[in-house]
Amino acid sequence: MKLTLVLLVAVAVVSTTFAKTVPSGKRSRLPMELLGGMFGANFQAPKVPKDYVPNPRIVEDRFTSRINHFDPQNRDTFEFNFLWNDEYYRPGGPLFIVVGGHHRTSPFFIDETHFKDIAALQGAFLATNEHRYFGTSVPTEDLSSDNLRFLRTEQTLFDLIEWIDFLKREVMRDPNAKVILHGFSYGGALASWARQRFPNIIDGAWVSSATVRATVNFEEFTEDFGNTIRIKGSDECYNSIFRAFHTAENLLDAGRTNIVSSMFNTCEPIDAENSLQVELFLHLMTLSLELSMFDDFNIENVQRVCNVLTDEQYETPMEALAAYLKDRYSEIRDCFDLSFENFISILGNVSVDAPQNLEYGLRQLNYHICTEFGFFQTAKSRDQPFGSKVTYDLFLAECSAVFGEWLTQEVLYDGVRLTNFHFGATDPRVTNVLYTNGGIDPFRHVSITEYTNLLANARVTPAAFYTEDIRAISGMDSEEMLETKHMAEEYITTWLGSPISPFRK
Ligand SMILES: *[C@@H]1O[C@H](CO)[C@@H](O)[C@H](O)[C@H]1NC(C)=O
Repeated sequence: MKLTLVLLVAVAVVSTTFAKTVPSGKRSRLPMELLGGMFGANFQAPKVPKDYVPNPRIVEDRFTSRINHFDPQNRDTFEFNFLWNDEYYRPGGPLFIVVGGHHRTSPFFIDETHFKDIAALQGAFLATNEHRYFGTSVPTEDLSSDNLRFLRTEQTLFDLIEWIDFLKREVMRDPNAKVILHGFSYGGALASWARQRFPNIIDGAWVSSATVRATVNFEEFTEDFGNTIRIKGSDECYNSIFRAFHTAENLLDAGRTNIVSSMFNTCEPIDAENSLQVELFLHLMTLSLELSMFDDFNIENVQRVCNVLTDEQYETPMEALAAYLKDRYSEIRDCFDLSFENFISILGNVSVDAPQNLEYGLRQLNYHICTEFGFFQTAKSRDQPFGSKVTYDLFLAECSAVFGEWLTQEVLYDGVRLTNFHFGATDPRVTNVLYTNGGIDPFRHVSITEYTNLLANARVTPAAFYTEDIRAISGMDSEEMLETKHMAEEYITTWLGSPISPFRK
């Protein structure tokens, strides 16, 4: 026990020395999950269960694609990963693809899912790709801003269709095979856009929580999170969080920084004069709650956290919140390091092998959202409990601190505007796409929840959370969830059926 303490002190001393430049030791290392959350990585893909054993029939391979599909003078190529499984394939059957998004690929995404079960029924060939710049599919030697210029949605769509063409011709040896896409989050948006842009190549897409509407200010997220706390926790819990955040803000405004800093155990006193620092602090507190309450995407965790936040042993809501967070992170670090510089240094690492990039894709993801999507979880709305100070200034400051001064507010807004302009946001006018969302998934606010078009539809499963509907049918499914899953199956079957011929007599 003593030895541990001595070691801890030693680590703290050493890392104080280095804290300004290199994140090292326990003190300044932010937990990866928090970092992931801060930069949006935790909602990129469903969590692969720890006990998941990959199906031995799934094979890994590499595909060679062009780095820049739009420049005939640049013939440079790179390789990306893909996984496939032909155990359900019957000759003449279709190709079923799970479109890779902002995450490493995993065999789990074409295994143990409802989409796989539909594939098995249809005699389909199953495959999934790793998105350029993620995992081991990085086209450049490092992730410098200059090298990230080929991280564009348009480029990715061309990687996708050329790989699909290759699978049909060279692997399935059936150039006429029909193609059905599936995807979640941004991967779902890509699947929808692929059908929109290449109806000659893609026959249909079922997408779950597809984030098709780019937005700088994603204020609906915090509103929705607050609402979920009311529904799954209680009004009392919501009010407790509301008071905790407002008390902290008022104390900081009044210059009583030390009370807040010591209660929340920050490594250095919060600099109340520095608005970015204050925003960062509040945003991290919100995120820590989000990560605890949405842990493992099990929404029942809200109640568990609320029990602590409303426990009568604490004198004030702020104290309860601080105690909860301190306890949650006690094993990972001994204080919260909230310096903006420390934060930026983690995203600043351009190495492909740095765990934040290899495992979580943090730098890549951030480049892409800073240039095309936004989705910044601000506290602009009055109808949420997480204070009032977190604005997009924080995220914009991050974007330009990490990638360069060229990344201005104008660049960010223009990127978001063009994404919506090019793909149509919530009115993409596509056919043969089914959009599914969960009734308590905050991402439904940037997805499509109502849509009626030719062989296209949208459905929201009440009380369901983020990507719950992609899992295989189970005895735990609600009636409504079963209906969603059957609907996906029916749509896919329809898309694969013979088209109605205008020449039929
Ligand atoms: C970036 O990450 C790599 C790999 O983890 C590490 O070796 C390197 O020291 C890091 N660079 C900086 C500047 O922190």
